[in-house]
Amino acid sequence: MLDNIFKKSKNSQDQDLKDKDTLIQYLTKHAPDLKFIDFTTSYAVRTFIFKATVPSLIKSYLSQNMRYILDAVLETNGCNVNADAGKIIIYAPRKEKETLYLGDGIEKIKTIPKTGDITCYVGENTVGESVFIDMEKENHMLIAGQSGSGKSTCIHNIILTLLLRYDKNECIFYLADPKSDLTRYDSIPSVIRTADKKSEILNLTEALINEMKSRQDEMKSMKLIDWNKKHPDKTKSHIVFIFDEIDNIIGKNVSDEVSNVIKGHILTLVKQGRSAGIHVILASQRPVKANLDTSIKSEIKARIALKLDTPTDSRIMLNQSGAEKLTGDGDAYFTNGDVPKRIQVAYAEWDEIDAAISSLKASR
Ligand SMILES: Nc1ncnc2c1ncn2[C@@H]1O[C@H](COP(=O)(O)OP(=O)(O)O)[C@@H](O)[C@H]1O
Ligand SMILES: [Mg+2]
Repeated sequence: MLDNIFKKSKNSQDQDLKDKDTLIQYLTKHAPDLKFIDFTTSYAVRTFIFKATVPSLIKSYLSQNMRYILDAVLETNGCNVNADAGKIIIYAPRKEKETLYLGDGIEKIKTIPKTGDITCYVGENTVGESVFIDMEKENHMLIAGQSGSGKSTCIHNIILTLLLRYDKNECIFYLADPKSDLTRYDSIPSVIRTADKKSEILNLTEALINEMKSRQDEMKSMKLIDWNKKHPDKTKSHIVFIFDEIDNIIGKNVSDEVSNVIKGHILTLVKQGRSAGIHVILASQRPVKANLDTSIKSEIKARIALKLDTPTDSRIMLNQSGAEKLTGDGDAYFTNGDVPKRIQVAYAEWDEIDAAISSLKASR
């Protein structure tokens, strides 16, 4: 149905294979303990993988100084180094980025069978595999990135691919967004409620709390999947609650009565929502302690870090610096507690998104 709306990407041949030789030659000479394993090119970055044959040297490759050296050798700005299971992974920004379009993911999400999951498509990893995120497995998710880094784009991917994959009986949506971008999904049957003003967001979170309590009363401590199997006549949809740009509403510097109540609701939802089939996805510009409540953060293990302002923001999201060096435009790290993996978030243009929404409204 949505096939003809979205653009598809064509990932052209890398023009910077030269850089690959340059870096391998340099490291062969200056870091002979690193043995080259693999090189791949993605939309925004090249990825070099080396085996670290002297474990005691690994730490030295993770230094700021090493990043400067790599940037100098490759004439880039923003090389990152990670260590994972005895390997050194170097991410080097490409000199010319390409765009990954959502059309690719729209096609792919249809090919994976449904197994009680709530799976959306976000983008691709550095070896060209699709990144699908199963909210049933991850439970909740935090997205962070400075203004313009691609948070809302990522949220549209999540909403659109879920809408494509699940009907109203499987997954319904509550969408809050002070910037009003998400109100455009209003009147799609699966979208129960959208809100942009603070008072409306309060009503929305209140409605979610009530729904959660009523489900808990009815289902006792049963999981949603088990309940649905046992009560085919009274099945319940998963609820995906997405809140974009939370900072202006529940950031630390806002402490009026309404904000505090909304904050409390969100904490309750991330703590207790799971059993009721409620998944919370929050997007923030600044995840630091001074802004985003630590108790909310600590309940959310799955994280997408887009380009962030500072190494401190990065450490809060990923347990390591590096997200401050991302190149923007959907260049990101994903983690659910493990070593963060570099991903490219897909992109859809407004006319594509709006055409998809019209089609979804008309089709039901
Ligand atoms: N995944 C992406 N691929 C390519 N360009 C992107 C991507 N994400 C964002 N952009 C570019 O950045 C702009 C801002 O993105 P947006 O998602 O609105 O950022 P945010 O919500 O973080 O402020 C987009 O209009 C687009 O030009
Ligand atoms: Mg935005």
